[in-house]
Amino acid sequence: MIEVLAYSEVKEVAGYVGNFKVKVLRKARYVDEKECTACGDCTEVCPQTKPSEFEVGLATRKAIYQPFPQAVPPAYVLDVETCLGNMPLACEKCSEACEKDCIDYDMTDEEIEIDVGTIIVAIGMSVYDAAGMSEYGYTRYPNVITSMEFERLINAGGPTQGHMVRLDNGEKPRTVGFVQCVGSRMEKRGRPYCSNICCMNTVKDTLLLKEHYPEMEIAVHYTDIRAFGKGFEDLYKKSRSYGVKYIRALPGQIRQRDDGSLDLYVEDVETGGVRVHNYDMVVLSVGFVPHPDFDRVREMLNLSKTSDGFLLEAHPKLEPVDAPTRGIFFAGTCEAPKDIKDSVTQASGAVARASSLMRKGEIAVEAITSMVIDEKCKSCGICAKVCPYNAIIVDTKAKTPARVIEAACAGCGTCGAECPFDAIVMRHYTDEQITAQIDSILAEDPMEKVVVFACNWCSYAGADFAGISRLQYPATPRLIRTMCSGRVDSKFVLHAFRKGAPVVLVSGCHFGDCHYIDANHWTAKRIEKLKKKLDKLGIRSERLQLEWISAAEGMRFQEVMSRMEQLRRTVTAEEVAETVALLSESG
Ligand code: FES
Repeated sequence: MIEVLAYSEVKEVAGYVGNFKVKVLRKARYVDEKECTACGDCTEVCPQTKPSEFEVGLATRKAIYQPFPQAVPPAYVLDVETCLGNMPLACEKCSEACEKDCIDYDMTDEEIEIDVGTIIVAIGMSVYDAAGMSEYGYTRYPNVITSMEFERLINAGGPTQGHMVRLDNGEKPRTVGFVQCVGSRMEKRGRPYCSNICCMNTVKDTLLLKEHYPEMEIAVHYTDIRAFGKGFEDLYKKSRSYGVKYIRALPGQIRQRDDGSLDLYVEDVETGGVRVHNYDMVVLSVGFVPHPDFDRVREMLNLSKTSDGFLLEAHPKLEPVDAPTRGIFFAGTCEAPKDIKDSVTQASGAVARASSLMRKGEIAVEAITSMVIDEKCKSCGICAKVCPYNAIIVDTKAKTPARVIEAACAGCGTCGAECPFDAIVMRHYTDEQITAQIDSILAEDPMEKVVVFACNWCSYAGADFAGISRLQYPATPRLIRTMCSGRVDSKFVLHAFRKGAPVVLVSGCHFGDCHYIDANHWTAKRIEKLKKKLDKLGIRSERLQLEWISAAEGMRFQEVMSRMEQLRRTVTAEEVAETVALLSESG
């Protein structure tokens, strides 16, 4: 059974896979959604208007309205702020007009809690605000519009019934210019990534215009046309065959003439000179940006984001629709800019992943999870605070030992590294196993070794990549693999120095790339603290290094290892002996 909770907002999510508790605010619609037949009688009599969000401000709507055609459910909504304005009481015209008697001014918001096993995040995206590129004159010049506004103008159900008109005089434009990559592929302003859909959206727009108005002159200003995808190249060729000009140059500036037409100043890539193209209308092809609620939702679900600002999947190839937190999946543009077909494909994948998990009715717990030794636990709550998955429950007041929810634990090991009482054991990465590796590395010729802690997903994979790329690097580094850099306990580092290591390197994924959400932030804090401690003890803290190396950065791995080797050469046997003595004294 599918229950649609429209006009609602998720306020809080707690729990873990199979046992999520979701608080949802059901906003008051002031219209009985089951009784409303969407006849529209209420809208007709409503005296209050405001710019329509759906029509991107190109038309108005009433205070009681249907958010958009084909809304599910089709029931109307009363926007109470627009309805009342400064008035304390509604005029009640809508209520009088409603034959079904489904308007209820006393309706109130309601909060409900639902239990769900899995969650699919599909919050969509927003578009770049073209006013950010003031040289294009958007909002200053009426005939400069965005691709979103174009969609409404050319739509038969839109404010002009599908007629393309200039916004200054309502006449049909003779010439239309499109400007690509507005807010996309820009390092300093806008966003650095390609928004994926804008090229094909513009190709589609040019075809629509040519089909409606064959005589219209159309030109597209672009940097690259990215027509990848099934049938896309054919559409692009079709657009060209209809006479649409494709000009490889983005305008540096747009200026309005007295007659309202627009001059686009572009660089002629062949001559290097400046050319001016005049159009009646200009459409700015705006790129994607994350949804305005993105960070709120991300924080609520404890998810990570990529450097582009979209949601980070568990693995780009093996788990492309899974969140790093089990039981949460992604669909659509919240994960990356993508077109409708890819969004639908991803949504199907997310549904299949979620339902296969739920159909089983049970989940296989990770082999690498943490375990609390009750006798050692002092219920301080540090483990629960640092756990990126909220997988540890501690009642600090009742002083009962911490409890690990194994279904939610992903095995990063941060709790084990941070526990001040050694009360947490990481299965398969126990303290004993890791110290045994340190001991064996430094058993012979410790001065010739650099101890490197490398996280499984990035740094260790970066070492692999350096290897398969046949990149040469010094032979002194010795790698100890942990699942996450978050597992590297300060005592492992001190143990290595005590055993005579000249240099210790802790390496992990770049911020935002950690496979355990933000566990590597705790690594950074821990290493910073440890460096201060070393300095205080009179040990050169430079000998402890922290580096972020991704799985794709084989060359960076090579470069970091060479740097570590140079550092190792600066450490003398006397310095190491003194370190060992100082650490033994300090306990
Ligand atoms: Fe690499 Fe966390 S997984 S630092």
